Amino acid sequence: MRRLLVLVLCAVMASTGTAAAGEQVIGGERASIKANPWAVYLTDDHGLQFCGGTIVAPTKVLTAAHCALGRAPRDLRVVAGREDKQDRGAGVTVTPADIWIHKQYVSADEGEDVAVLTLGNPLPYTPLPLAEPADRELYQPGTQLRALGWGRTSENGKTSRYLLQATLPVLPDAFCADAYPQFVRADMFCAGFEGGRIDTCQGDSGGPVVADGKLVGVTSWGEGCARRGKPGVYVRISRYAKDLHPVVGALPPGVVDP
Ligand code: ARG
Repeated sequence: MRRLLVLVLCAVMASTGTAAAGEQVIGGERASIKANPWAVYLTDDHGLQFCGGTIVAPTKVLTAAHCALGRAPRDLRVVAGREDKQDRGAGVTVTPADIWIHKQYVSADEGEDVAVLTLGNPLPYTPLPLAEPADRELYQPGTQLRALGWGRTSENGKTSRYLLQATLPVLPDAFCADAYPQFVRADMFCAGFEGGRIDTCQGDSGGPVVADGKLVGVTSWGEGCARRGKPGVYVRISRYAKDLHPVVGALPPGVVDP
């Protein structure tokens, strides 16, 4: 039941774009594209923004599986280098050449909510490296993460015109397991505040959660937005680094392929 609710929320968001998908980050602040050059958003072929993404290699954009599922590359656009959605002159808009979705993906709240879009030409923006299994400390409760996106700014509001960011502490897995019976510790983590108020929301999915110059999480799901006791749930990227390396390409410096 709860899973259905979450799915319906995300499906509504994905299919109706701005109208139903709320705003960007809730309780956040403006963020510059200069400081976060790897932050991108996805639109449909009409230019309607519905998800976020992260440049993780010159021709690779990481997003959520639920953002890419059921879409053909020609129906998708990646908008990079643009902080203000209305600033048509800024950055680039590209149609991906290929879409990879994690083979085990079923629904966001069952895990494996990752997809990679391959572009035909390299983007002129600095990629963000993935968190690796060794980055365990970045997932310790209390670690301050930064979530970014152009999603809704209130639960039923409009998506944001500008790139927004919110600082969210990692919450204990036990809190998340209490909040959501379907929470899978190995694949996900929760971040935010027990009292709500600051959170990601519809339209932020697929977008980056960063710490220490690495992509730690991908915005995935939650019940409503910014509700007390219902934090945002994020993909635990360190756990998928192994699945993602063959798709994304080069291993980050210092990581030895076992
Ligand atoms: N599934 C939503 C999307 O597709 C993200 C929801 C995040 N929810 C939250 N309460 N943090 O954009």
